[in-house]
Amino acid sequence: MYKTGLIQHAKRLSHLVSEARMSSQPNVYVTRPDVDISGLELLRKSCNVTTWSKALPVPREELLREIKGKDALYCALTDKIDAAVLDSAGDQLKCVSTISVGYEHIDVQECKKRGIRVGYTPDVLTDATAELTLALLLATNRRLFEANKEVYNGGWKSWSPMWMCGQGLKNSRVGLYGFGRIGQEIAARIVPFKPALITYTTRTARREEATKVNAQRVDFNEMLGLSDFIVVCCALTPETKEIFNAAAFEKMKPNCIFINTARGGVVDQKALCEALESKRILGAGLDVTTPEPIPLDDPLLKLDNVVVLPHIGSADIETRKEMSRIAARNILAALDGCEMESEVFV
Ligand code: DGY
Repeated sequence: MYKTGLIQHAKRLSHLVSEARMSSQPNVYVTRPDVDISGLELLRKSCNVTTWSKALPVPREELLREIKGKDALYCALTDKIDAAVLDSAGDQLKCVSTISVGYEHIDVQECKKRGIRVGYTPDVLTDATAELTLALLLATNRRLFEANKEVYNGGWKSWSPMWMCGQGLKNSRVGLYGFGRIGQEIAARIVPFKPALITYTTRTARREEATKVNAQRVDFNEMLGLSDFIVVCCALTPETKEIFNAAAFEKMKPNCIFINTARGGVVDQKALCEALESKRILGAGLDVTTPEPIPLDDPLLKLDNVVVLPHIGSADIETRKEMSRIAARNILAALDGCEMESEVFV
């Protein structure tokens, strides 16, 4: 009798202790339950973690409701984090951490005004994104998806001398719009294909980096007129928004292949579609579109000279796992008032 009482008392005590510990732990809201578990496990060691329940973007209303009273937000590029979300969170919110290198979905100025730190995941995805960019470029210029379809629909009648020919990278002129970490890695991967020229367009000279891949800095218009391939690898900013518009496509060579693994917003998609339809340019490979997912009735999807992928630039398993952990570690550091692994400074 006495022993049973003691056991019950001990259980109650341990329950109270764990409740007290939980209530003193910071509260984190995670908008994507489908991020790699290793990141969530890191958070759960010292935080109360609430996650949206579906492997799809959290509805706005749900986010506005769930963010209330949280100390940190773990989000993705599918979430718009603006003043309304921050207002809803309350003054205790210390950190917004995105599992992406791009952070145009976060109103960083608004966060800074409120002393909220912003974390992101650069570097770790550079190689994966450069690799995918090359894969997309090769799939587009060598018409892999078109050719593959022919195998299955009976279009492959015989080996044919000029059938399914594409435009090789060898002796070509490749223009990189953006020459940051990802642009440089793309250039390094293009070099072995023996292009005649690699050019790049950036605000800062980046001479040292350019020397490594023998790239030449040119201005935007020069790149448009010179290139057999244009590869977009810049961030989406007010300056780059729809910079690839009708006027830009007009200046490109008719054999130009346009590759975008950066952000759909950099392109006026209607103008791109018109340039492709009218054969103003030869083809396009897009890992990013506006909107995402691209609607099934979008005219771009009807064109043979276009390859569209579902925003999988960084989708290599180890990369995505590490992105999940970095996003978590950024939160833990911010909550501890320490230096974050990767913080957005504006
Ligand atoms: C990013 O991180 O911004 C990519 O677009 C997705 O990984």
